[in-house]
Amino acid sequence: MAKILVTSALPYANGPSHLGHIAGAYLPADLYTRYQRLRGRDVIHICGTDEHGVAITIRADQEGKSPKEIVDFYHEVIKHGFDALGIDFTHFSRTSIPLHHKVASDFFLRIYEKGYIVRKDLEQLYCPKCQRFLPDRYVVGTCPYCGYPGARGDQCEKCGRWLEPTQLVEPRCAICGTTPELRPTFHYYFRLSAFSDALRDWLASKTHWKDNVRRLALQWIEEGLRDRPITRDLEWGVKVPLPEAQGKVLYVWFDAPIGYISATIEWAQKIGQPDRWRDYWLDPETKLVHFIGKDNIVFHALIWPAMLMAHGDYVLPTEIPANEFLNLMGDKFSTSRNYAVWVEDMTSRFPRDVVRFGIAMILPETKDSDFDPREFQRMVNTELVNNFGNFVHRTLSFIERYMGGERPKLEAVDPEVRAQVDAAYRDVETFMESFEFRKALRRILALSDFGNTYFDRNEPWATRKTDPKKTQRTLAQCVYMVRALAVLMAPFLPDSAEKIRGFLGLPSLTWDLGQSPQDVGSDRLQNVEVLYRKITDEETEGLISLIRGRAQKTPEKEEEKPMTQEPIKPEISYEDFAKLDIRIGTIVAAEPVEGTDKLIKLTVDLGVKTVTLVAGIKEKYSAEDVVGKQVPVLANLKPRKIRGILSEGMILAANDPEGYPILLHPDKETPPGSRVT
Ligand code: MF3
Ligand code: ZN
Repeated sequence: MAKILVTSALPYANGPSHLGHIAGAYLPADLYTRYQRLRGRDVIHICGTDEHGVAITIRADQEGKSPKEIVDFYHEVIKHGFDALGIDFTHFSRTSIPLHHKVASDFFLRIYEKGYIVRKDLEQLYCPKCQRFLPDRYVVGTCPYCGYPGARGDQCEKCGRWLEPTQLVEPRCAICGTTPELRPTFHYYFRLSAFSDALRDWLASKTHWKDNVRRLALQWIEEGLRDRPITRDLEWGVKVPLPEAQGKVLYVWFDAPIGYISATIEWAQKIGQPDRWRDYWLDPETKLVHFIGKDNIVFHALIWPAMLMAHGDYVLPTEIPANEFLNLMGDKFSTSRNYAVWVEDMTSRFPRDVVRFGIAMILPETKDSDFDPREFQRMVNTELVNNFGNFVHRTLSFIERYMGGERPKLEAVDPEVRAQVDAAYRDVETFMESFEFRKALRRILALSDFGNTYFDRNEPWATRKTDPKKTQRTLAQCVYMVRALAVLMAPFLPDSAEKIRGFLGLPSLTWDLGQSPQDVGSDRLQNVEVLYRKITDEETEGLISLIRGRAQKTPEKEEEKPMTQEPIKPEISYEDFAKLDIRIGTIVAAEPVEGTDKLIKLTVDLGVKTVTLVAGIKEKYSAEDVVGKQVPVLANLKPRKIRGILSEGMILAANDPEGYPILLHPDKETPPGSRVT
């Protein structure tokens, strides 16, 4: 059986986790792992804390502690938070352990010996006041790509580009603000450029990957991959294993992903099967799945695969389901301003299944999403409590109340019920396999919604006096659905699923459809109790004031509204542009495309001809809104079928910050067919 090796990004051990981290990588990874395990697959979930780099040493400087004290403390805090949420790792390690240092040094030496690491002399920023070189986040300045003024020496948070300190415009020492000077030193560079072709070929096969990952990675390749310095002048980290490299350590982004390997090795040792890690890392059939947030894409989709290619022994990533960001009540999470919901804020107030549910409903899978306690309350109360919880409880408590707790025998599954359950299983499987956890969860809720309708429609409270046989049948069907729901929900709501298993007296929850649950369960229900209670307005308001109250009011300059615009694409020639034939068209007719949320079919007069176009504007415009309007049209785009309609061109529109279309109109009425140049 093919093995599945799930990893989630190693969190820096420099602070507790907040909901943004959880929604970005850890909850999705846990859902996926639990689902695969439920399916009986050989899956492990590996993680640990990332304990090197300037994220740690800067924190230590700020708190007046040693890096070791910082990582020891936050390793425990982070681990405890994951436990409290039920994020279940097969192994949770850390990168400061000697084993990791050894694995990382060996990795370095191996690719050094193969000639993929070279030494270069260079000049580096040095702070004369602090008397030290300024690697990575020790220097801040303006991003040369997007102009963001708070860019750090390692990466621009706004445009996501990986930077080198010397690329920053107007650099300053992050500790004392002094303008640094250049001093000669030397570093080791990873020859990333040698892997352009191999990476491009490899990415070309990943057509099913999320667009944000694949397109970004390919774009970086097209812009030209540069060799990357992978050592730093620091005390704290994995020592560069070369005699001439005194005082230098590996760059944290070089050693951290190797942590995925060393953590797996540590796990194998711990369970007393020291070679077990090889089954995963050395088998080309292993499905290696890296769960990450979007700020980690460049490392996981380019640099780490190139490192693995250079090394040669290990499997390459199969999937990189990177999430977008989670915001908090319309603003960015900010650790430095303490504007965040920490895991502990939630787990100290609500049962963990409730928290998991609230986060799973808003995972930022395709675009940034927002956590708002009011919305959290609404979703929990309507969907978890009133829909799912209610169906389970009304079914089981009816049996306790009116049937003496004796489970009605399921003679045959009602074909309608069977079809509903069957379809839900199929859809949930599809969504879980393609990392669409929000859709999977909504699909399960649709099944419990059906269960409630079925219950209402069959009116067991009425038939119990007139037709006990029918009542038995109804309840047997409902129990059948309760069991199915418990199975499907198990990855999302592990504690609830376990409780339902107990109520039903089932020995375990297995993925099969189950012909007659009674066969495997007990005849009586056991200790049925209410699964959830509603979240009160007071709790919601309390959470909001907590978040608002402790956040520092004045945002630092660099924390202002994020610039979310994409960077400009690579340069093209005028000839490239001249191939586009853009015309002004007049929309003469419009009608919504049936069965879609987004599409409107337009008939557009282009002067020289009248064409049919399908435009994704229905979320913002109605058909009536647009008739008579003039819009620019890309008139020579190859026609393509959209929902069975041949679309002969494309209207051009702006995108608002949420990605919705804003139509563009000429300044004054223009003859249809006029060229746009
Ligand atoms: N520590 C990094 C972060 O929090 C993630 C490291 S992921 C790994 O952004 F691949 F390097 F492990
Ligand atoms: Zn300084």
